[in-house]
Amino acid sequence: MCGIVGYVGKRDCTKVLIDALSKLEYRGYDSAGIAVFENGGISVAKTKGRLRDLCEKMKKTHIPSGHSGIGHTRWATHGEPNDVNSHPHAGGKVTIVHNGIIENYKALKDFLVSKGRHFQSETDTEVVAQLLDYYYCGNPIECIQKTLSEIQGSFALGIIFADRPDVVYAVRRESPLIVGLGKDENFIASDVTAILQYTRDYYLLEHDEIAVLGMDGVKVFDSHGSEIKKERKTADWDVDAAEKQGYEHFMLKEIHEQPTAVKTTITPRISDGLPDLSECGITVEKLRSFNQIFIVACGTAMHAGLVGKYIIEELARVPVVVDIASEFRYRNPLVGVGDLVIIISQSGETADSLAALRLAKSLGASTLGIVNAKGSSIARESDMLIYTHAGPEIAVASTKAYMVQLSVMYLFAFELALAKEKIDEAECRRLIGLLRQTPDLIASILESADACQKISSQLINADHLLYIGRGLDYALSMEGSLKLKEISYIHSESYAAGELKHGTISLITNGMPVIAVATQTKLLEKTVSNIKEVKARGAKTIVVCQQGMEIDPSAVDFKIEIPKFEDIIMPMPAVVPLQLIAYYTSVLRGNDVDKPRNLAKSVTVE
Ligand code: M6R
Repeated sequence: MCGIVGYVGKRDCTKVLIDALSKLEYRGYDSAGIAVFENGGISVAKTKGRLRDLCEKMKKTHIPSGHSGIGHTRWATHGEPNDVNSHPHAGGKVTIVHNGIIENYKALKDFLVSKGRHFQSETDTEVVAQLLDYYYCGNPIECIQKTLSEIQGSFALGIIFADRPDVVYAVRRESPLIVGLGKDENFIASDVTAILQYTRDYYLLEHDEIAVLGMDGVKVFDSHGSEIKKERKTADWDVDAAEKQGYEHFMLKEIHEQPTAVKTTITPRISDGLPDLSECGITVEKLRSFNQIFIVACGTAMHAGLVGKYIIEELARVPVVVDIASEFRYRNPLVGVGDLVIIISQSGETADSLAALRLAKSLGASTLGIVNAKGSSIARESDMLIYTHAGPEIAVASTKAYMVQLSVMYLFAFELALAKEKIDEAECRRLIGLLRQTPDLIASILESADACQKISSQLINADHLLYIGRGLDYALSMEGSLKLKEISYIHSESYAAGELKHGTISLITNGMPVIAVATQTKLLEKTVSNIKEVKARGAKTIVVCQQGMEIDPSAVDFKIEIPKFEDIIMPMPAVVPLQLIAYYTSVLRGNDVDKPRNLAKSVTVE
């Protein structure tokens, strides 16, 4: 989704803006632009395409030179990606960048047109620029307030006024925006990773708060225009965490960070060999009170929820419904008092997941956020909160965030099962012991990278492939399939292995790759039958199983073995080869691994 940055200070503003925007590239975008105060005016440079296209264009035309301004990477919503629709947008004295959607832009545009205003672009953003200018009578705060009272939707805005040089204004509603605090310089950014190389100190803006950034300081006003004191936060992520550190891609680096991420996430939540989530607001009494659990999320985070369902139901015997957030929020769900709704999100800003959280709260359910991004909206609005400590995840394809979401699902399931007296303390300690071994287990699978690369070389020319599995393996195969599609652009589907015969098996043609996840001992025989069925119809089979599992070799073309371990823990190590296969397939096909086409890292609009 769009990325916003802004700068006021002594440095070369263009350089700072481009550098900060480059740190937001991972969010996904199709055009970029900046506006810089220069020689008593505002210089705008913008273009369709990547930041490098913007830099090329500036080199050929003009590189704005100044010490303050705003910048933007756009992920098109209203109007195609082209130069005109790119941000910044201007209306008279006002120039803005915008992330989000203005829902009532059409009515506002009609109003402004009736007042004689002309528009250049098809964007909802230009409507806000023009509206701000329409209300501007020399008092920026008043005009921003007036505009806020009229616009509906989700937005973060960086605003500059031609007659207020070297001052940047910022405001947000629903969409993320932070204010970075440096020495004699200040920043705005969609997330803190954009400015980590300049400062780790920042303010989180609440909805409709207006920040005014000058070189000498930042003032924040509430929606009534009264100045307020904000709490200064410090990011615990360092610059290195947001750099590639020698890896060819962020995705590969993040896959390799998984053992550490799991350790960092689970260690503080284990006390005396037992799970302890009390610091997250989760008590035994609360756990005992839940009759039903809903896990609501999108994409990969939802897949982590599917694994959660299997293990919670298996161990704690509490019914769990897993829902896609965009479905949950519009299907009048049967949720209420006594239910727990768990929202899983890496970014903590996914629009549908946030809406689902608010709906669950309004229906009287207790809510638990499992979130990676500190201070994000879902983190702030959840009743109970477990932070996953994956550090910044930059690659659009989620890997380490999924892994830590799984680790939290285990901790939660173990603690719930203990609270519900479905397992005793000794069993709980034993399970925690297993979980503690997962970082080493994951590290050992990372050594299978060469084998995964070989398998990828067999997939690169495929048009379609299938992932199959049963039980936990089915949940995992859904994640494997999503990972492959999003970065390799090869069409793949994931199917419950037992469901193949009910239609899908007709798709199998000679040489079509089928990746079978078969790590579950109890289900092995059944899954092997399904592998044989597809093999008999010409499929090229790739099997992910545990070491020592007996599988008829004639049914298997390629095999990846996970060190023998307990079935219930298998999703954590077994997802690693699936991630690596997706990664190498994307690399071998020459794709932009970290920034796949059409995708955004943080989906802050519906
Ligand atoms: O930030 P969130 O975890 O809420 O994001 C949810 C999905 O958009 C995300 O997991 C997406 O599916 C990833 N690109 C998958 O790799």
